[in-house]
Amino acid sequence: MKNILVTGGAGFIGSAFARYMTARYPNYNIIVLDKLTYAGNVDNLLPISDEPNYRFERGDIADRTAITRVFQAHDIDTVVNFAAESHVDRSILDADAFIHTDVVGVYILLDEAKKHGVDRFLHVSTDEVYGDVHEGYSVETDPFAPNSPYAASKAGGELMVRSYHVTHGMNTVVTRGSNTFGPYQYPEKLLPFFITEAIDDKNLPLYGDGLQVRDWLYVEDHVTGIDTALHKGVAGEAYNIAGEDNRYNIEVAKAMLALLGKPESLLKHVPDREGHDRRYAMNCDKLRALGWQRAHSFDTGIQLTVDWYRQNEWWWRKIKTGEYLEYYKRQYAARLAARGAFPQLRVGVITAFFPSDCPYALAGQNYGYGCSTMRGAII
Ligand code: NAD
Ligand code: DAU
Repeated sequence: MKNILVTGGAGFIGSAFARYMTARYPNYNIIVLDKLTYAGNVDNLLPISDEPNYRFERGDIADRTAITRVFQAHDIDTVVNFAAESHVDRSILDADAFIHTDVVGVYILLDEAKKHGVDRFLHVSTDEVYGDVHEGYSVETDPFAPNSPYAASKAGGELMVRSYHVTHGMNTVVTRGSNTFGPYQYPEKLLPFFITEAIDDKNLPLYGDGLQVRDWLYVEDHVTGIDTALHKGVAGEAYNIAGEDNRYNIEVAKAMLALLGKPESLLKHVPDREGHDRRYAMNCDKLRALGWQRAHSFDTGIQLTVDWYRQNEWWWRKIKTGEYLEYYKRQYAARLAARGAFPQLRVGVITAFFPSDCPYALAGQNYGYGCSTMRGAII
């Protein structure tokens, strides 16, 4: 392993991986290839821009000519593929780019890697391929049941990776990470979106009843999990990377507001995401058996994350302009307006009919209108 192509390395997790790898392995050359979509940001790579073992190439993983050139120019022997369209809400609005990158792009990258004879191909996938997990914890042998166009596109890409191992004998490894958070995350995902909006005292649109459960993984732990799978994973296998810190969305939002010293009244229940998975949860004994363990809990990670966004307004304020504002309008204008369409429902205090294990009701707000599940009583 010497010349590692990190595709999608200008995004959130890919850039964290590139920053980590250049420092951790000075003998490896880290070549980042990124299309620089709306989510790709060269600012994420500024901390390593002068490192001797780092290079950047702009390109699309679905562009064979570009990929062939990069494989040859840098004599690539290892690929770590982060490149993806990654936001569920955008896949609901329009899934074209998801099929282009997460399915076709993965196929072209695999095919070119095979022709070039790469030694190792690690593909970064997601817990969303397992779909909604009402109880228990997903293990790597569970069947796929993706529910959003994003999750389906990731499942499609992963299945191509599997096929190249089984059919062509490629040395592939897949990782399935859980909800990742930390510095440099594009402010459309729950935590960076809510943190940056809350800093400006804006309303925070919580989908449905806010009782969906996600498993929160600090970005540096996701990166060390990928490093472990890259070096120690068995060819053809998949490895879950879980934070093992399952939280209700509303609990996550309230923890963030407490750290910022902002009021919970900023939280507004809005109509739910279509096809919204209620719960993700994974078992990661298989990766742990290779020696990985996480270094951060949700509580330590959220503190670091809130501090970073507070101290790095230069990074996110310039993102929240132009295309971002267009997206915000498409995604949230109708949802936030829908609240106003039912003013009579917005008075009252919720006191009853919540699940006994949920202490996270928002006093004074209606729950569940526009949602598939009614969990609160409006009085
Ligand atoms: P991100 O959206 O922040 O970054 C994606 C990067 O891929 C961007 O830099 C973008 O420019 C680049 N890209 C998109 N299309 C490309 C193409 N055709 N060719 C080359 N580059 C392209 O995403 P992220 O949150 O960093 O996620 C990285 C990977 O991890 C994705 O594969 C995602 O599915 C997976 N994942 C993410 C999470 C999470 O919680 N964020 C959890 C598990 C798995
Ligand atoms: O589980 C891994 C996945 O986590 C990754 O594969 C995806 O790339 C990543 O985007 C993430 O998907 P989610 O859909 O879980 O993340 P998101 O940050 O969009 O939403 C987290 C939860 O918060 C989800 O239940 C929806 C809810 N939410 C999100 C937004 C943006 C809200 O209630 N309001 C919002 O405005």
